[in-house]
Amino acid sequence: MQIIRELGPLREALGVIRDSGSTLGLVPTMGALHDGHMQLVKAATARCDRVVASIFVNPAQFGEDEDLDSYPRQEAADIALLEAAAVDMVWAPSVDQVYPDGFSTNISVSGVSSGLCGGSRPGHFDGVATVVAKLFNQIRPDAAFFGEKDFQQLAVIRRMARDLDFTHDIIGVPTVRAEDGLALSSRNAYLTPEQREQAVALPDIMQEASKEIIKGGDIGVILANAKANLLAAGFEKIDYFELKHADTLENMTVFVEPARLLAAAHIGGTRLIDNIAVTKGT
Ligand code: PAF
Repeated sequence: MQIIRELGPLREALGVIRDSGSTLGLVPTMGALHDGHMQLVKAATARCDRVVASIFVNPAQFGEDEDLDSYPRQEAADIALLEAAAVDMVWAPSVDQVYPDGFSTNISVSGVSSGLCGGSRPGHFDGVATVVAKLFNQIRPDAAFFGEKDFQQLAVIRRMARDLDFTHDIIGVPTVRAEDGLALSSRNAYLTPEQREQAVALPDIMQEASKEIIKGGDIGVILANAKANLLAAGFEKIDYFELKHADTLENMTVFVEPARLLAAAHIGGTRLIDNIAVTKGT
């Protein structure tokens, strides 16, 4: 497996892959890899001849008061996992390779970026869209793989790719959960054992709310009760707990499919997000 940190060698190595006629999959990550990321890698290796995984903790998507400095970094362990999963190349640039002196471009995707994480993390999706567009241009993959756990991020990237004429496939991979239902996240590493136990209230309460919505209950009341239950279960702050149209992410006051329940809440200072499909089909 090649580990590449500079743009010149990256272009050369990608040229060799392209000349061989192989299809290329891209798995963008910020490292601190867990089973959720490895499912992206699995989907990429199943679909593409060659796979590049990027590891880059992107400063542009962190707000001033967020966890950029403390974000978990474990590059050696990540590289070992990617090698064992038969990834061909790791793209691990330094900040100045991605944002050289004088970098002045910002990609802002309106509409799907508003509200939800866009509301509680101003500028976050500009940072995501900008770095992902750069990764798409640097790698020029045939397909790129993103987790559905970051459902709004996936919607923003799909919109950006359509708007900027990226023609490769954008593949959403279902969320991977621990046995008790908590969605895997690099930020779960911040939780104490007690907070980890309490955190399972998030998926549990989302499942309960989903059932109530499907039964035809009042959506406003169901969402308000869910928030109160989360606070009672040990979460100290809720950024949002909302029902949205799954494609447009517009607010939904009357349940119609496709619908998605999305939540972000803080426990012990750690911000967790999750989302589930609300569907009569399950
Ligand atoms: O989902 C992530 O890990 C990041 O937001 C991404 C897509 C790698 C961009 O930095």
